[in-house]
Amino acid sequence: MAYRIVDYSEEYGSIMQFGKNKSVYIHRWYPFVEGYSKEFISKIVDEYKEIQKCENIVCLEPFAGSGTTPLELQDMGYLCYSFEVSPFMYDLACCKMETTYTIKSFDNYCEQIVGYFSKPDMYSEKKIETNFKTLVEHENIDKWLLNREVRLGILDILEGINKFHSKKYQRLFKVALASILLEVSNVYRNGKCVSYKENWKDTIKYSRSDVHQIYLNRLNDVFREDILQMERIKSKKKLFSNRKYCYYGDCRKLIFNKIPDNIINLVITSPPYLNSRDYTDTYMVELKALGYMGDLTAVRELREKTLRSHVQIKWGELETLEIDELKRSLKDIEKYKDRFWNSELLNMIRGYFLDINTLFKGLKSKMASNGMIFFNVANSAYYNVEIEVDMIVCKIAENNGFKVAEIREARRVKTSSQQKGIADGLRESVIVIKK
Ligand SMILES: C[S@@+](CC[C@H](N)C(=O)[O-])C[C@H]1O[C@@H](n2cnc3c(N)ncnc32)[C@H](O)[C@@H]1O
Repeated sequence: MAYRIVDYSEEYGSIMQFGKNKSVYIHRWYPFVEGYSKEFISKIVDEYKEIQKCENIVCLEPFAGSGTTPLELQDMGYLCYSFEVSPFMYDLACCKMETTYTIKSFDNYCEQIVGYFSKPDMYSEKKIETNFKTLVEHENIDKWLLNREVRLGILDILEGINKFHSKKYQRLFKVALASILLEVSNVYRNGKCVSYKENWKDTIKYSRSDVHQIYLNRLNDVFREDILQMERIKSKKKLFSNRKYCYYGDCRKLIFNKIPDNIINLVITSPPYLNSRDYTDTYMVELKALGYMGDLTAVRELREKTLRSHVQIKWGELETLEIDELKRSLKDIEKYKDRFWNSELLNMIRGYFLDINTLFKGLKSKMASNGMIFFNVANSAYYNVEIEVDMIVCKIAENNGFKVAEIREARRVKTSSQQKGIADGLRESVIVIKK
């Protein structure tokens, strides 16, 4: 069956990126490139309420990321279950959903940190360098993510945070540190990976106390302001939080055991795209420098738990779902086998859709009879062969007993220079699915 593709560039074009959140209360705590805006969520909720004529809505976001979906839904007063596999993203999402911060405690912890900066520890060489070879400047390497002084500044902040008695404030202050990390590092986020800043060896000269100051400024200018705002809002109304419905781990498993059956009305989500982006790589600086991962075994374990949208793990020979569009794309890409930049490419594609299938199996049992799913994906291309991810997801949904209402084209995403054959870009869409 062919699915209806509707042009939604006007409605969704400007709200599918995180950009709009950058100056918004709490959403702005950490700029998350792969996220969408809060307006995207409110627009969908309004539509759902209009169609289903109901007020009590229970939601689910299987890929929480920076927490945009559950955070916006809690502000609107709706319960939202969410899952996140990356320990850093999980902390980020949870700390943004917390509603019990007070300005008094915040100021106390700030004072504690400042006090700590005046008598920082002497660190052993071992502690400065960590298990990751290129994390910190040392003699035998040409490139490193953090200069030695920057590393010392970060360690001071982390040691100060570790002395807090409250886990909730530890998490908040760690997220504030994450939000300045790239600024003081030698790299910037560049699509799938991080790249070195121009002339970084000559231009990046932050001292240990510069790092402290940049951190304190961020706490004061962004976090303190928003916690003050939170107090103002709390003085007028009771705040609801989705924090306790956010679970750390792999949604492919958690969906089956953390949610009661038949209760989810609305799913709004954006899984990793099938673009070989490895989130573990993209957020390597945060994961390594803030102690979320201690060694390469931890890196591998995280990669194993993430959706198979990357080629970093060898999964063995995987089966192919019985979907014509998928089989055709695999066959066409296989023709370029001798030019593959990674031998896992076909397996990644197979694994990605097997994972989406598992997710839909879970959704089938968890969704209420009036349930709707708004599923944001983008198509992919390898060797100029386009994989119509949205079409294949539609088939998976139908095979699991759902009905596809339509595919809404939000925008066209530019392809890399290797995909010249796909002149007008790849469709990024929102698939609307009903139980
Ligand atoms: C595109 S981002 C979601 C962005 C989110 N909508 C926002 O606005 O912040 C996808 C997220 O899925 C997470 N993820 C990948 N595999 C996962 C899994 N198996 N279970 C749960 N989360 C996963 C990634 O760590 C990443 O944070």
